[in-house]
Amino acid sequence: MDKFVIEGGKKLSGSVKISGAKNSSLAIMPAALLNNGLNSFTNIPEVNDIYTMIKLLKHLGVESSFENGNLSLNTSKIISQDAPYEHVKKMRASIYVLGPLLSKYGYAKVSMPGGCAWGPRPVNLHIESMKKLGAEIELKDGYIIATAKRLNGAPIHFDVASVGATGNAMMAAALAKGNTLITNAAIEPEITLLAKYLEKMGARIQGIGTNKLEIEGVDELMPAKINNISDRIEAGTLLIAGAITKSKIEIEVDEIDNLNAVITKLKDSGARVEVLANKVSIDAENLEIGSVDVATSVFPGFPTDMQAQWTAYMIFGNGTSTITDNIYSDRFMHVPELVRLGANIQIVKNSAVVKGVKKLQGAKVMSTDLRASASLVLAGLAAQGETEVLRIYHLDRGYQRIEEKLKQLGASITRAATAEF
Ligand code: UD1
Repeated sequence: MDKFVIEGGKKLSGSVKISGAKNSSLAIMPAALLNNGLNSFTNIPEVNDIYTMIKLLKHLGVESSFENGNLSLNTSKIISQDAPYEHVKKMRASIYVLGPLLSKYGYAKVSMPGGCAWGPRPVNLHIESMKKLGAEIELKDGYIIATAKRLNGAPIHFDVASVGATGNAMMAAALAKGNTLITNAAIEPEITLLAKYLEKMGARIQGIGTNKLEIEGVDELMPAKINNISDRIEAGTLLIAGAITKSKIEIEVDEIDNLNAVITKLKDSGARVEVLANKVSIDAENLEIGSVDVATSVFPGFPTDMQAQWTAYMIFGNGTSTITDNIYSDRFMHVPELVRLGANIQIVKNSAVVKGVKKLQGAKVMSTDLRASASLVLAGLAAQGETEVLRIYHLDRGYQRIEEKLKQLGASITRAATAEF
């Protein structure tokens, strides 16, 4: 088990390159199941969730090679349509194999993902959309068992815009017979990339990037190549690392528009943010951090995956800020840990009310989930003295060697093995 040991209070400087996005990778990798052959992806991050997806795909018969962000997936010898609990329990995004397996092979047996550390995360919308496309669904022994001779295109309306359910529905509809109209589709950049990849395979999709997707099913899809987008959450996290340490740093990142919500809030807090062609610089030297409210919402709103990091930043605000999570109302596991460092935060319903304090004092804290861990690292960078962040396996699920990036910027952060749990 690894932990981070952070000596807080160091100023950061310099430039760092943002890795490819985890969440888009987890959508495009299972999409390769829709064809038979060699698919190539570039800019895939070397994080544990990607290795988990590779293992799940291997169980289904997919051969892979993964080096320096270049991933190839050969889907020509699929041997199973069964995603067992041992894989799915590690990562909810495993549910993404449901749509492609069902649509291509007429059968999928996928373990129901459980809840998360911060609360329930249902999959009803995934199941309902497969039913709309004509699948028979049986829920048995903790598994979703889906069958269909061939899926039939159909209208699908989501009452809640869901990233995963939109992805699954789009993948399934790509090989269905006839047309599918998805309304209130998610428009997150990760879904847009998935749609573009499906198009490269030969799928017919209108309305990409909008919340109305029209998919004309085709009989066959071909292997394809695609370059992954930058990780907007890693980018946002590192910008906050610059702001919370009152430093001046730069990140190299593509698709900068995807960061607009976070950049706007950083500017509102008084940080000077400049956007160049493929770089964003942040200058927070001598900044009196303004307290800024945030309410998470679907893209292009402020992402729930940045809520914990924003909460950490607001600990040092000059007043009171209210940070509301409208996507996951219970996602505040980081708060008691931040309070252990000296933060003044109260949870009121689905909001964290943060009263700014002048300083934090380093302590041992424990990661509870991926983005919560990131907020603890950020707080540790700005705290006085030493902070130990335990259980960083959560962080390793989604951030590619973040300690190396932070070290490159001048932070004092070390990974160390520990027997402590
Ligand atoms: C994806 C991201 C995750 C991010 C989330 C919201 C991946 C791998 N993960 O998760 O990092 O936090 O989007 O941006 O891309 N819902 C239902 N029923 C369903 C599905 C979802 O009620 O069947 C609800 C959820 O409880 C939540 C909302 O819909 O309130 C959005 O969740 P969703 O967009 O589906 O999240 P994920 O795709 O699981």
